[in-house]
Amino acid sequence: MKKIGVLTTGGDAPGMNAAIRAVVRTAIFYGCKIYGIEHGFKGLIENRFKEMNLSSVSGIINKGGTILQTLRCPEFHLKEKREIAYRNLINQGIEGIIVIGGDGSRKGAFLITEETKIPSVFIPASIDNDVYGTDLTIGFDTAVNTGIDAIDKIRDTASSHERIFIVEVMGREHGFLALEIGLTGGAEIILIPEFKKDYNLNKICSILQKGIKRGKDSSIIVMAEGFGFVKDWSEKIQKFTGLETRYTVLGYIQRGGKPTALSRKLGLVFGYEALVSLINLKKGQSKMVGIDNWKIKIMDMKKVIHKEKKIDKKLYDINKIFAL
Ligand code: F6P
Repeated sequence: MKKIGVLTTGGDAPGMNAAIRAVVRTAIFYGCKIYGIEHGFKGLIENRFKEMNLSSVSGIINKGGTILQTLRCPEFHLKEKREIAYRNLINQGIEGIIVIGGDGSRKGAFLITEETKIPSVFIPASIDNDVYGTDLTIGFDTAVNTGIDAIDKIRDTASSHERIFIVEVMGREHGFLALEIGLTGGAEIILIPEFKKDYNLNKICSILQKGIKRGKDSSIIVMAEGFGFVKDWSEKIQKFTGLETRYTVLGYIQRGGKPTALSRKLGLVFGYEALVSLINLKKGQSKMVGIDNWKIKIMDMKKVIHKEKKIDKKLYDINKIFAL
């Protein structure tokens, strides 16, 4: 295998650049030509290939975002658009491809191999950490640290004003990010879509009022964006309890920032292992790299593509103890 493509797709995640750096330098080390594809799957359709060299990835390990840029590409769901992308891959002579992205991008990587037989390796990178087959995705640790830094700041003002704060975090329709930020941020209540039935207004308010009775001067609720509308919940809680309640939507700051050491390390190790695996694949083989109990593993995409990652209910439950 002498010509390899690499792209980033879906929501960007801090640490993607570390992965790109590892892929590019490892490819060159093994004597391959490496082509960056700009703007994710859309770049495939628009034939945006650029050969990369050792200097192309200088000075990026500490930068959030992705130098290859990314976007969401609904057109890639259309066979006729994929056919254009495949023609471009073949005309460029690409013999293997590395796709760096989140849960929504896994399918695209798998489809490329299924439909063209060009081998692929998927690298899980997303702040959502919702990809089956890996304990951690690139970027998750950085987003968690951004979240708890925000919670620590909010706790100051919540305590000064004796207020209830609801902090909405990202995570699409999953609660992995909210659970980690809530647990490590010391939230009194964590609201995630996976356990929506656990909490109604009555239950939330009785927990808050019990906390006030035992002397809490404020409480923090972390709500995953997939749980509900934070403004509505804030108004309902204030109305029901009479306690001053405010909300903050963390939003896109969770997607940026300098990647933490862990996000960088995942990027570097995933990037290296993905490339070494790719150059040994046969036509038609599609793999994914992940981490399982701190061990790197390479999985057959066919075995994981239809599986969904489950939330750690024990972590969710023990936070209720810590919040007493
Ligand atoms: O998938 C990462 C993510 O940040 C989600 O947590 C969030 O819901 C979504 O992307 C936002 O998508 P966009 O960047 O397209 O607005």
